Amino acid sequence: MSEPIGPTQQFYTRWARLYDLVAVQTPGIGSIRTAAVDLLDPQPGDTVVEMGCGSGANLSLLRDRVGPEGRVIGVDVSPGVLSVARKRVDRNGWTNVHIVRSDATQPPVDSADVDCLFASLVVAMFDAPAGVVDDWAELVGPGGRLGLMDLARSSHPRARVLNGLFRRFVTYANPRSVRQSTAPLSTLDRRVAAAHKRLHERCSDAQSETRALGFARLSAGTVD
Ligand SMILES: C[S@@+](CC[C@H](N)C(=O)[O-])C[C@H]1O[C@@H](n2cnc3c(N)ncnc32)[C@H](O)[C@@H]1O
Repeated sequence: MSEPIGPTQQFYTRWARLYDLVAVQTPGIGSIRTAAVDLLDPQPGDTVVEMGCGSGANLSLLRDRVGPEGRVIGVDVSPGVLSVARKRVDRNGWTNVHIVRSDATQPPVDSADVDCLFASLVVAMFDAPAGVVDDWAELVGPGGRLGLMDLARSSHPRARVLNGLFRRFVTYANPRSVRQSTAPLSTLDRRVAAAHKRLHERCSDAQSETRALGFARLSAGTVD
């Protein structure tokens, strides 16, 4: 990619190291990531593509599941987080984990090679998330696995008081283009719901779970 970088890439480049801390060390986030990868259920020897891999917080979980015979390909547009992800790969000596700079809506990946596609905290960044999930379903093809993990507002009675904190988190943990939109939380909720709904439409065996009092949404299934 040689075109100038946009606001999302600038944000995830400027704040890459801080983002990595939040992505890895936020209390409870590790168990949510593990549950999402468990639901995706990659098998030993599989090739998993992680769209919008960011700083690589899921890479070790995915690599553990595919084993030494499998492959993990992390795709992201933002140079800063990609650099953190590459350092993580180098530091751990993971020779079967590859980091690629590309737009997740047009990944340079041969569909014949992909067994599973995973995206965590990414679909809400797209204007048309259901269409992106459709494209990802085409990429993995029938029999391939799709998995999503996202955060959105919770309707759980015990979570109501926390929705205010969540609003602040969304406001400050996103690029200015999202922060300045008139209704960032409604947009987030709508996009997450649309993406997970489309995954269910494309995968008749799809399963969904919630974690963290309903703030975390996990879905996975096998493409029909
Ligand atoms: C909230 S972060 C999530 C990172 C990682 N998946 C995680 O769980 O920590 C969103 C990521 O999506 C990436 N992203 C946004 N739009 C993208 C696009 N069109 N193609 C590829 N990556 C994109 C950003 O660069 C950022 O790294």
